[in-house]
Amino acid sequence: MNKKILITGGAGFIGSHVVREMVTKYPHYEIYNLDALTYAGNLANLKDIEDLPNYHFVKGDITDAILVESLFEKYAFDGVIHLAAESHVDRSIEDPLAFVNTNIVGTVTLLNAARKYWDGNYTGKCFYHISTDEVYGSLGESGFFTETTAYDPHSPYSASKASSDHLVRAYHDTYGLPVVISNCSNNYGPNQFPEKLIPLFINNIVQKRSLPVYGKGLNVRDWLYVVDHARAIDLIFHKGEVSETYNIGGFNEWSNIDLIRLMCRLMDEKLGRESGSSEKLITYVKDRAGHDLRYAIDSTKLKEELGWTPSLQFEEGLSKTIDWYLDNNDWMEEVTSGAYQAYYEKYYGDR
Ligand code: NAD
Ligand code: TYD
Repeated sequence: MNKKILITGGAGFIGSHVVREMVTKYPHYEIYNLDALTYAGNLANLKDIEDLPNYHFVKGDITDAILVESLFEKYAFDGVIHLAAESHVDRSIEDPLAFVNTNIVGTVTLLNAARKYWDGNYTGKCFYHISTDEVYGSLGESGFFTETTAYDPHSPYSASKASSDHLVRAYHDTYGLPVVISNCSNNYGPNQFPEKLIPLFINNIVQKRSLPVYGKGLNVRDWLYVVDHARAIDLIFHKGEVSETYNIGGFNEWSNIDLIRLMCRLMDEKLGRESGSSEKLITYVKDRAGHDLRYAIDSTKLKEELGWTPSLQFEEGLSKTIDWYLDNNDWMEEVTSGAYQAYYEKYYGDR
């Protein structure tokens, strides 16, 4: 069946992999990528597919109700895959209102347009909201987040995502809108903006800059290769049950310091540097405020109900990821020019 799908935030890290997956796997679908091209959005992420006839880009803001409604009118979307967001915890600590605007107001703007345009004719329609495991809060040393774990967000970022999840569910319960939500663990892979741990540290190792480890480096994250997340999104969009939630993660927990040591070792080998030289760049800095100790996702439901499993082992995925950044130095130089320098000074200057 042909579909017209609105993907928001398709020029960002995960969104660009989702756009690629959908445009290439379903040439009979029309894919519309709505993205404001903030500092995190980059059309270079989609260079390889931008000329495909079923791909369309619209530059615009998801909080712009007039624009969003006009797109629904013009293109008659059957589905929405909503990824656009402010996504970095540290930035949310500095500027929470930007997160409230995009993540909460933007999500409601899209929900309103879908509700108005679909007008109760919900057959074949789907509003798919992409969320994060951070809404569940922080785990102690054991246990996992499941789909029924109570929400307990701690950062302005996770609180804004939790709020948007609640609103998506409320539009189902109140208006019958056909919604589905997934909550994924930390992603890594090509095209991630170098404010997040893995690309930031790859770039700093290349540049021989210090590696700012927050606190003692003992916080634990559960890492998933971005293409595996994109595959899960495709599956859930097509096969997920309306009003259900699916947790996505690869049972792949790493303390920050163990992960950083592994990256240092791999990069010493790849860059032909003396063993141990990158580890010398590790610098312990002031901890992040409200820093969640541990995230770990139980993705059993997704595996048992929809048959999804991750395709890559972590060391292989990390090695491929490092190779991508080393091979795409132009991409890194472009995104770290200009405003990035000011950002870096501001966030790390007085830590
Ligand atoms: P990102 O910051 O790399 O990309 C966000 C994209 O949204 C950018 O292209 C940006 O230009 C666009 N955008 C931001 N504000 C906008 C607005 N007001 N209107 C239109 N477009 C706007 O983020 P990401 O890491 O790719 O995350 C994508 C989604 O996945 C987010 O909803 C995030 O909460 C969720 N998520 C991310 C992770 C992760 O590890 N990165 C894990 C789980 C869930
Ligand atoms: P990050 O990539 O920002 O993802 P999130 O906060 O959404 O999990 O950070 C991953 C972990 O790495 C987190 O525990 C914070 C830590 N971290 C550092 O120690 N130093 C850094 O410079 C950054 C960006 C993160």
